[in-house]
Amino acid sequence: MSLLLDIDHVGKTFTQGGLLSRRSIEAVKDISLQIEAERPEILSVVGESGSGKSTLAAMVLGQQLPTRGRVLFDGVDVASIRSGADRRAFMAKVQPVLQNPFEAFNPLKRVDRYLFATAANFMAATGKPTRQEIEARVDRALVEVGLTLAEVRGRFPHELSGGQLQRTAIARALIPDPRLLVADEPVSMVDASLRMSIVNLFSSLRDRLGLSIIYITHDLATAYYISDRIIIMKKGEVVERGNAREVLDNPQHPYSIALKNAVLTPDFA
Ligand SMILES: Nc1ncnc2c1ncn2[C@@H]1O[C@H](COP(=O)(O)OP(=O)(O)OP(=O)(O)O)[C@@H](O)[C@H]1O
Ligand SMILES: [Mg+2]
Repeated sequence: MSLLLDIDHVGKTFTQGGLLSRRSIEAVKDISLQIEAERPEILSVVGESGSGKSTLAAMVLGQQLPTRGRVLFDGVDVASIRSGADRRAFMAKVQPVLQNPFEAFNPLKRVDRYLFATAANFMAATGKPTRQEIEARVDRALVEVGLTLAEVRGRFPHELSGGQLQRTAIARALIPDPRLLVADEPVSMVDASLRMSIVNLFSSLRDRLGLSIIYITHDLATAYYISDRIIIMKKGEVVERGNAREVLDNPQHPYSIALKNAVLTPDFA
């Protein structure tokens, strides 16, 4: 069994403040978690605000270094990736999907420019691509998310709907042929009526492209619907983990039960 991702006893402590008022926060305490290379999956990460979800994601993406333990991607310690070329190769394989697609694109820049630049950048590793090759790559990525280059060409971000823009952001993440997407609350800014279609897209990417996706969310309904496995985090620790439907149908840990009840109890306040 080879591992795509091996989060091995990882922790992250942030230290804040000056000499006199030093404070440390253990954002992630001691988390181990593996994704197998041959078994693409959607792994949901849920938990209250401040439980360390984004910090864990940032360590998987190599944006934050663990203060203990290691994150191995394809057998390589992410912290050891230093050179520009190695870093680019890693980033091609592990792509983030941001929460707010409007932040991913400058409002004054046509969105296709980003897609062409991303394609040109990653294709440059294997020789200088032609215009047609770049456009074909961009179109292929857009088709994967249910759009086409013809629909997106020349458009500014505000000329696309929030759902289309998030799909375009996901297409951009697909251009370098990643193995893993790390999506930190990717649908929280998307209109509720469109959420399901975006998360269904994740399932189809898993099935068609063999991608694994770490899906961080506050939305237990979509987590239940699309994920293979789930971890429930509280205060930097995993309090429960397992098959998503089993965990959410029959949560064992008091915190998981509370989380589920909070969702099921309508809040009319
Ligand atoms: N760069 C940082 N410097 C200092 N403390 C940080 C930093 N990033 C996160 N923290 C702290 O670490 C803890 C975990 O934060 P994190 O953003 O990982 O939580 P989260 O589960 O993603 O929350 P949310 O659901 O609100 O996005 C919090 O107490 C937060 O204040
Ligand atoms: Mg977060």
